[in-house]
Amino acid sequence: MAVQDVSDAHAVEIEPTAPFLRACLRLPVERTPVWLLRQAGRYQPEYRALREKHSLLELIRTPELAAEVTLLPIDSFDLDAAIVFSDILPPLVGMGLDLEFVKGDGPRIGNPISSTRAVDLLGTPPAEETMSGTLEAIRIVRRELEPRDVPVIGFAGAPFTLASYAIEGGSSKDFTRTKAFMFSEPAAWKRLLGKLVTVQADYLLAQAGAGAQALQVFDSWAGRALGREDYLRYVAPHNRELYAMVAAAGVPVINFSLGVGAYLADAASCGGDVVGLDWTLPLDDAWERVGLDRPVQGNLDPAALLAPWRELRFRIDDVLDRAGGRAGHVFNVGHGLTPQTPPDNVRRLVAHVLERTSP
Ligand code: CP3
Repeated sequence: MAVQDVSDAHAVEIEPTAPFLRACLRLPVERTPVWLLRQAGRYQPEYRALREKHSLLELIRTPELAAEVTLLPIDSFDLDAAIVFSDILPPLVGMGLDLEFVKGDGPRIGNPISSTRAVDLLGTPPAEETMSGTLEAIRIVRRELEPRDVPVIGFAGAPFTLASYAIEGGSSKDFTRTKAFMFSEPAAWKRLLGKLVTVQADYLLAQAGAGAQALQVFDSWAGRALGREDYLRYVAPHNRELYAMVAAAGVPVINFSLGVGAYLADAASCGGDVVGLDWTLPLDDAWERVGLDRPVQGNLDPAALLAPWRELRFRIDDVLDRAGGRAGHVFNVGHGLTPQTPPDNVRRLVAHVLERTSP
């Protein structure tokens, strides 16, 4: 009996109070939690001021600065979660790829992968060595937000999305180099995605170890680049392995696979606890496809924040109506906020979700 009492007390202690974490576990919430993809960034004048003085990689690698940027939107709006300020690409540097962000041109890899030998030369060093700035930023933010009961989210890129940058050398519209490599060198492709899984799983586990209370995996480009059969053959096994490894973190994992509409159920079934929904399907339709027993996050079109308030409000209400007050909905956008977003629309959005869903 004494043993039973102890485990009950423990169970009570670990049930979270933060609405975001409760929704990730499909526990009842006092109101729908809300946070926004790319909630820290160029639409904020405070962020632009910091960028005048520091490069993006400097912001990311300096723990105090990364923590400060992470907290900017939390201090400005009543958001229910903070996502650590970083990017999906810096972990590639530790593997041996040269990364820079070119103004107006996005990310650039100076030595993109173009041979099977280049794949074999990639390293898989531990995140504690290569991503210590982000891990320390998580520790700082966690300390800062613990008293406010706002959870910290860590994140990483999924293997296909990272492989596409590593092979293309930057952003791409058609992913031809990536797909040519994937089709012509299937064994090296497997080794490449295997290494990316090793590094990202270790990085995600390290972020949880540093205090991240949830983890999000961004697969931004597999759905845009590949048909269903290629996804199942060349990507899904690696995503499955990644989610299986990251489950050991013991925190909710969000599977955000952008643009996979035609095979959303297949992408969701690779793993993760919560399914991040992009904006291409109405929320109720998408939720049914992934299963109503899975918590979901999404799915407002981020361009709605560029619309007049009455249009934006209508679209927020539509997402909430389609969620129908069901347990396990985290309100979010279906892709990152754009730099043109008026901060006032973020403020009104957050206030409206709060007001509409509070008892
Ligand atoms: O607030 C947050 O959401 C955390 C920060 C965050 C950034 N990048 C900061 C950033 C997150 C979660 C990311 C993820 C990311 N980065 C993804 C996956 C999500 C998605 O949008 O699909 C991808 C594909 C990238 C790669 C990337 N980073 C590109 C293509 C670019 C250039 C284009 C752009 O949006 O500027 C970046 C740069 C970047 N990452 C910026 C920020 C705030 C802009 C940098 C600046 O200040 O100049």
